[in-house]
Amino acid sequence: MENLIQLVNKIQRACTALGDHGEESAMPTLWDALPSIAVVGGQSSGKSSVLESIVGKDFLPRGSGIVTRRPLVLQLHKIDEGREYAEFMHLPRKKFTDFAAVRQEIADETDRETGRNKGISSVPIHLSIYSPHGEIQILAEIFIHSEDLMKNCATRLSLEEDDQEHGAGCAGLSRRWEAVLAGLCHQTNSSRTPMTGVQWAVSAQELISCIEFVRLTVVNLTLVDLPGLTKVAVEGQPDSIVQDIENMVRAFIEKPNCIILAISPANQDLATSDAIKISREVDPKAEAESKNDVQNKNPDGEFNFVETKLTDRDFMKIFSRNIFGERTFGVLTKIDLMDKGTDASEILEGKAYKLNFPWIGVVNRSQADINKQVDMIAARKRENEYFATTPEYRHLASRMGSVHLGKVLSKHLETVIKSRIPGLQSLINKTIIELETELNRIGKPIAADTGGKLYMIMEICRTFDQIFKDHLDGIRPGGEKI
Ligand code: GDP
Ligand code: NA
Ligand code: MG
Repeated sequence: MENLIQLVNKIQRACTALGDHGEESAMPTLWDALPSIAVVGGQSSGKSSVLESIVGKDFLPRGSGIVTRRPLVLQLHKIDEGREYAEFMHLPRKKFTDFAAVRQEIADETDRETGRNKGISSVPIHLSIYSPHGEIQILAEIFIHSEDLMKNCATRLSLEEDDQEHGAGCAGLSRRWEAVLAGLCHQTNSSRTPMTGVQWAVSAQELISCIEFVRLTVVNLTLVDLPGLTKVAVEGQPDSIVQDIENMVRAFIEKPNCIILAISPANQDLATSDAIKISREVDPKAEAESKNDVQNKNPDGEFNFVETKLTDRDFMKIFSRNIFGERTFGVLTKIDLMDKGTDASEILEGKAYKLNFPWIGVVNRSQADINKQVDMIAARKRENEYFATTPEYRHLASRMGSVHLGKVLSKHLETVIKSRIPGLQSLINKTIIELETELNRIGKPIAADTGGKLYMIMEICRTFDQIFKDHLDGIRPGGEKI
């Protein structure tokens, strides 16, 4: 029992922490399976603002200067009913229903760790938002099938729901479920039975990480707010801060399952965008190149970098020659703040600074709006009006704005999850076959012995297999069609 608790704790710790923070990890495969969305970019480029509008709630500290000084790891959970609330990992059992208080707690908890004078820390703040409605639902809805999955499996295993204790039904269920599996796998791992025929430890490990993948993908969506990249330290900051921030950001966005929102302000030169620079480094490949991309290329595929005077046009060509990003989405903020006579239509139309996925322009709340406490709904309305009525962007209006960005991300997540399912299925099938073979070899199982445990694991695999088959075509994105 002691060991079991330890293992479950390990798994839970692994699930709640996003990055590898130096401590040894029980299951490295978990890190790879965690889906997340992170915002990167220069200081005050609008990262926190964009994240808030994706979530559709006001809860993050924003403003000029270095406001975000620790990573904020946010998990979205969908609940069936009731009032939405937030919980911090450092304040278990305290339910926040006032989101202004959430913002204050983020600021206070940042100061507690870093001191007040603009220091940074790579120790994340973990926040969960539980909500039955709104944007959160749009993003979380595609994950609902895993909730079904958990419930089905739990029923098959006659686990009882544990709602009262854990609040959200699914969290309670999956915790129980996790405990059962962890227990099974752990016992078998450590029992050193003579079952050499099946690579038992491996199967158990794979199975648990596969179940973890499903649980995490479906139940929780993780979003990460990060400190802004800078070029120089300001007064009171150590010189190492520039590199420290970059390292911290990189640790999050280099994970293959991290979807990167490269936040670039439209009132600065994109050629100098920190967001683009670092995203390209960690996500250099493009999925597929469209015909247009090929046309933009120089016939011999090379540009003369030595040439002293590169025109803007040349520069754009070089830029577009290197279309990149299998998991990077360019977000152009502050379009409303561009100099008179300039506009971002070339970029937004995909003619300049082209990325694999099209740029999405947004207009967030200005500092004056924040001071006046303009709410999300009013801000959205104004953003929509801005794109719909500005002559330069009117023709692009349906592909612009925060709401559209949310939909694009949902759609993308759906694609990612769907692409994973066949792999999970074959892993499960392989496990079933191996277990069957082994069961045939050792004879009929008797409840409490190793054969019995094997049998149970196999049953779980079969259940998963069946549920995957049932739901393979059932997964749908939240919200309307894009
Ligand atoms: P971060 O440092 O990248 O997280 O940026 P914040 O979200 O904290 O925003 C920095 C400042 O820029 C705040 O004062 C925001 O009000 C302002 N801001 C962000 N996006 C926009 C935008 O699209 N338009 C305008 N006018 N201001 C913006
Ligand atoms: Na800022
Ligand atoms: Mg910020």
